[in-house]
Amino acid sequence: MIRKAVLPVAGFGTRCLPASKAIPKEMITIVDRPVIQYVVEEAIAAGIRETVLVTSSNKSAIENHFDTHAELEASLEAKGKHELLAMLRNLVPDNVSIISIRQGVPLGLGHAVLCARPIIGDDEPFAVLLPDVLVDNSANQSTDLADMLATYDQQQKAQLMVEEVAWEQVEKYGIVAPAGDVPAPNQSVDLVGMVEKPKRDVAPSNLAVIGRYALPGHIFPILEATQPGAGGEIQLTDALETLRQQSGVQAYRMQGTTYDCGQPLGYLEATLAYARRHPEFGEGFKALLSRYHQGG
Ligand code: G1P
Repeated sequence: MIRKAVLPVAGFGTRCLPASKAIPKEMITIVDRPVIQYVVEEAIAAGIRETVLVTSSNKSAIENHFDTHAELEASLEAKGKHELLAMLRNLVPDNVSIISIRQGVPLGLGHAVLCARPIIGDDEPFAVLLPDVLVDNSANQSTDLADMLATYDQQQKAQLMVEEVAWEQVEKYGIVAPAGDVPAPNQSVDLVGMVEKPKRDVAPSNLAVIGRYALPGHIFPILEATQPGAGGEIQLTDALETLRQQSGVQAYRMQGTTYDCGQPLGYLEATLAYARRHPEFGEGFKALLSRYHQGG
């Protein structure tokens, strides 16, 4: 069972400026909680018990968000606000730990994952979740992350979560080449190749890596030996291509919906989707929406 996850959160978030100037982009609010909390909740729901945040110097708000806030808790206790207190204390369940480690220099996603090596080690599989992307499985029986981690256990092969994107979009993503037909949702397929941000005319498919991975610890020595690739950065995709040649890699086709919260229209769409079904604010939000829809 995969119990550990790495969340790279060191990037500047330039696509979210000015919102991300003084707070990390991962702390931008979707309805009532920051983006990063949804991602940690997704990991916990899939069985992750140890989460490694790979941070940088301006990201302490993320660490504070998951830490105990003793003064606030004492104040809520004194005022008898027990529900709020319980909610805060359950933000991270007792059996889950959040650890952070710094990526001192921004050398790319592959390098960020490599920074977690001293905590994860080379002998154990782990998950990687890129917190720009929210995965919404509210319409599904099970979550994509849990299903993909279970597939890793069965197949003992690295898994990359993918979804079909518009062909105009392929140059924004890692793109995979499946061995056969495009798999059905919730299914995995062997890969014959993958490439980081290809031009449309050379892209092997329109199946894009969305930022959820299940990887063997053996990826660390490969990452260590990986030379800078696209954009002069150490690319996780390049290390995965080496891993594929050595021991095979599969793409898991997701069934849920993604929201790219690394850019404003993405987090606005996530806000619409999540607010409409929020138990406390949903009805009020829908009333607001219909008022604006009528131009009121
Ligand atoms: C990263 C990965 C890319 C993946 C994407 C998903 O790119 O390198 O393979 O498709 O995340 O969001 P980035 O968006 O950090 O440039």
